[in-house]
Amino acid sequence: MTETLYARPPVAIEAHPFRGRTLAVINDLNREERLYLYRRTRELKQAHLRGDRRTLDSFRIDDPDFGIYEVFLEDSTRTRESFKNAAHFHRLKFSELNTASSSFNKSESYADTFANLIGYDNRMFVIRSKLEGVCRYLAEKTQQYGRRHNLAGGISFINAGDGRHEHPTQELLDEFTFLEDLDWDDREIHLALVGDLYHGRTVHSKVHGLGLFHKVTVDLVSPPELSMPRSYVEEMQLQGFTVREFGSIEQYLRHGQRPEDSTEIARLWYFTRPQLERMGERVLRRAAELRAAITFDPADIERLARDTIFYHPLPRHREHPTIPVSLDDTPLNGWERQSANGWYIRMVLLAMLAGRIGDDYRGPLGPQQVEDEDFVRDVTNEAGLRGSADQTSPQEQRYSEGIRPIRDGLVIDHIFTAAPPEKIRSHLATLISVMGLHGRGGEWVSTGSNGHCKGLLFRPGHPGLDEYAVRKLAAVVPGATVNVIRDGAVYRKFRLGHPQHIEKLPELICRNDACITHPDNGEQTLPRFIRSRDGHYVCAYCSRKHEFTEVWR
Ligand code: NCD
Repeated sequence: MTETLYARPPVAIEAHPFRGRTLAVINDLNREERLYLYRRTRELKQAHLRGDRRTLDSFRIDDPDFGIYEVFLEDSTRTRESFKNAAHFHRLKFSELNTASSSFNKSESYADTFANLIGYDNRMFVIRSKLEGVCRYLAEKTQQYGRRHNLAGGISFINAGDGRHEHPTQELLDEFTFLEDLDWDDREIHLALVGDLYHGRTVHSKVHGLGLFHKVTVDLVSPPELSMPRSYVEEMQLQGFTVREFGSIEQYLRHGQRPEDSTEIARLWYFTRPQLERMGERVLRRAAELRAAITFDPADIERLARDTIFYHPLPRHREHPTIPVSLDDTPLNGWERQSANGWYIRMVLLAMLAGRIGDDYRGPLGPQQVEDEDFVRDVTNEAGLRGSADQTSPQEQRYSEGIRPIRDGLVIDHIFTAAPPEKIRSHLATLISVMGLHGRGGEWVSTGSNGHCKGLLFRPGHPGLDEYAVRKLAAVVPGATVNVIRDGAVYRKFRLGHPQHIEKLPELICRNDACITHPDNGEQTLPRFIRSRDGHYVCAYCSRKHEFTEVWR
């Protein structure tokens, strides 16, 4: 019998739309789910401002045994303290791991650390880390742990900022504040993102978060050294956002004043701080100059549209604030209310993930799933081949290895057609290693009649591949054809498309050295990739976009 760590009545997670779910990236809550959260937050905020205790109590988890843990491996004031204050509101068992003196310093893994904390009956973890993708990874790892120990119900991992990747709860409170200032109208937003768009995870979460609005215009205001990574800009464009880029606030304001320019400057400005602690020496030397490009000059107030509001996830630098303190007492100040909204949002989020509220939610559940369409086509019949072993008239197409025709075996053709020869050659080596196709035969790059290069691999005597192996092959050489040769003729033929997911292969690597799956980080786990709409492969943990060939070691 399986040992039970602690007895708890079995909870069917499916019975509640939010209980036990993880928030690793903003899209883990879909648009409808977020709108639900904002509606409930509005309710809670109003009840709080009115002092309506009954309504407040209807949100409270109120369970001294319900454990929530904060694990912060990077500094924080707002995020950590607002979660702590939210936990106090709920009257929970609240704990904080002292990461500076924990066994992380003895090279303990994330998986082991959290397995222990779960063992003390904790149900929710709020985690801030330098490594990216930690919450997704732990949510998956915990499922195995839960099976080992017969744990009922899900454990929630809430990402409180992971490296340069995402900061989904900041995104929730930002969206809530924008809606508050747009009279709860989600049809359209025009937002300027000003500051360090390269390192800032709060603005990276906006790439998907702003999809909450039906029409989006984003003005990116930053010097080139701090500009939004290209893949994020492309992702915004792919979603239909209008994206414009400016090198400094001065350039932006000048642009807005050109009479021929119909699109004026945004009314909502979102500032982010230059993240000096993440910058290299080269950029740091120019810190003053870069800061100047993204610091607002109070003399420019006249150049702003009326009703302009400034936001900032904070902190702001006490000596070099990019929003000068002289603006605190002006109507531009949206950042203080924004910060207070963080507390309301987090109280409601905890209530939802604990299953205290959310029963009445009726919309679609969870992130949009990418379905695996059929990426292996059996074209044996289409090609006019007979799949029967006792065929008497062999098919026309024959493969020969040099001068000798192959009688039995495997031929993989059209490998990486039209790619440069050196790329094909190196990928042939990957193919052999991943599929274990060492041994007799040959592989080379040949030029087809159309002048395009392609890779070919012959394995005479190979007994053929089972269905699993053919599917795995599609992950390695999409676009190729697989021929099983019997008695000198093609007996089975498959055309390989592009799988939606590539995973569970030791040869895979995520190229982001801050990813939890990167070998340098020692967590001993493999990455998993999901095909994007534009044909790239995105790491399921840190969201780094890869070309197909990059995901292979
Ligand atoms: C931000 C963060 O840590 O990502 N702060 C926050 O959570 N409110 C922004 C920052 O550090 O600049």
